[in-house]
Amino acid sequence: MNQHFIIPQGGPYLLTHSIGPITVKGREYLEAHYLAPWADQGGHAWPYWLTLMDRFNGALAKLLGGREDEFSHQPNLSTGLSKYLLSLPRKNGPTKILMHANAFPSMGFVVTALKAEQFELVLIPEDKPPHDPQVWVDHLSDDIDIILITHAHSMTGVLSPVGEIARLAKSRGKRVLVDVAQSVGVIPIHIPNWEVDAIFGSCVKWLCGGPGAGWMWVKSDDLPRLNPISVGWFSHVNPFEFDIRNFEFSETAKKFWDGTPSVAPYAMALGGIETTLDLGVDNIRARNLELLQIARPEFDFTQNGGTICYDAGERVDDLDNALKKKRAYFDRRGQTIRVSFHVANSQKDAQLVHSLIYSSKSVEF
Ligand SMILES: Cc1ncc(COP(=O)(O)O)c(C=O)c1O
Repeated sequence: MNQHFIIPQGGPYLLTHSIGPITVKGREYLEAHYLAPWADQGGHAWPYWLTLMDRFNGALAKLLGGREDEFSHQPNLSTGLSKYLLSLPRKNGPTKILMHANAFPSMGFVVTALKAEQFELVLIPEDKPPHDPQVWVDHLSDDIDIILITHAHSMTGVLSPVGEIARLAKSRGKRVLVDVAQSVGVIPIHIPNWEVDAIFGSCVKWLCGGPGAGWMWVKSDDLPRLNPISVGWFSHVNPFEFDIRNFEFSETAKKFWDGTPSVAPYAMALGGIETTLDLGVDNIRARNLELLQIARPEFDFTQNGGTICYDAGERVDDLDNALKKKRAYFDRRGQTIRVSFHVANSQKDAQLVHSLIYSSKSVEF
């Protein structure tokens, strides 16, 4: 399957949870769909580029089962979340947002920074398992307005049963948001199976699309009620109307756009999404699980995202050095070593991880 990916030189590439390898298609698309139209047509490339941006939304819709006009390009998840929260109808008093303390910190930072706008972050403590629906129920007090579920946790690998947690929260009248940064592209997602209001994602990790091509999905029924305050001509129903006295929101999720969008990241990322569609997320997950299971046979990875987050304790420096000696691409957060397997990884890569975790001596690679 290596014909789909450009894997950097060195040891095994175990870093898809941080940044997926560039796809062959992504590299081609950057040239063919971004640079070539610009070189050939200069400013007349815009209509082509805008069609490309729509193709990106269409590919996401195909992958995730939403509607193309429910997706909006965003630079990253944090920006998408911030814009979404500020678009909500205002209430008297604080708007409380519940997330687990193991959620990606940036998502919490967004809420805390909106304190002046009366948003308040409420955290489920670290010692309560984030994938246990009962834990969420225990924290869904009347004053909670919104919950943000992290589908796959970046520091532990824990996978949340989004559908179940969302159903419980919805039955209590809460707005439900989901962060799929660590799951999209490796864990099958079908949006119609989730009763949720908005989803935030990017293409950086398992979609192998590079940084800059973030996105958000917003439930279409809700769109008329949402009024983003960070706007620009591209969030206008007709960006080319050019009447400074008349701003009218796009009727689609494009209302969450603002000024001139960046194009290059979406050209590359489209290649990543199409590669994912070609391979099939079910197949990517099957291969990922097979390799995870080789690396840690005693662990049930079906309730885990695509990544091994191994708390190496006092062995962390040894493991870190052993992986570096193998020139492996991996990362470390404190005592936790993180490694992940995409389809381009081999059983040998998984065996290497296994041997390093379970013994102090390393195998030949
Ligand atoms: C679970 C999760 N959410 C969000 C992000 C990134 O957010 P942003 O796109 O705002 O950088 C990451 C990045 O590692 C992540 O793991």
